[in-house]
Amino acid sequence: MPTMKSQPIKLAIIVALLIVFVAALVGGFGKAKDAAAVRAAREREWLRGEGAFFVRKDCISCHSISAFGIKAANIGPDLSEAAVDTQRRFGKSLEEFLHNPSGTMSIVLSSRIPLTDAEKQEAIRLLKIAYQRKIEQSQLGK
Ligand code: HEC
Repeated sequence: MPTMKSQPIKLAIIVALLIVFVAALVGGFGKAKDAAAVRAAREREWLRGEGAFFVRKDCISCHSISAFGIKAANIGPDLSEAAVDTQRRFGKSLEEFLHNPSGTMSIVLSSRIPLTDAEKQEAIRLLKIAYQRKIEQSQLGK
């Protein structure tokens, strides 16, 4: 009877597929864990650098700050030039922009990441340093 004979073959195929499936699942899970570990290691390094404030405040979920070596997200602009760029983009100094933000940042700063006045001052101080670093780096041809 061919149908009787095909039963173990079917079973073998099902088992094989199951093994492949489980292996793929474990492999995929491993990769996701690797990616998370890489990300965590990068964040630990950034927390030791000049951009630590922006990592702790989670600005880096939308911004990179390449002048501080932070290459994270690009939903918003790289903040390396924010010290001068807010004038071009919004017609406001960085100080004015952080105290009276426009667009996406007015929502971010009023709900998701409220900053105290002291924290805004800190962000302004650091973004000016970032811009300085950016200029130094371009002079060095980096
Ligand atoms: C949810 C995403 C998001 C988060 C989180 C976020 N930003 Fe932004 N930010 C943006 C976007 C998008 C823009 C571009 C302006 C626009 O589209 O309205 C922007 C613009 C800016 C600008 C102006 C930059 C320029 O070059 O003109 C500054 C400064 C800024 N953000 C600072 C911060 C700081 C500091 C934090 C953390 C406290 C932060 N942002 C967190 C999305 C975000």
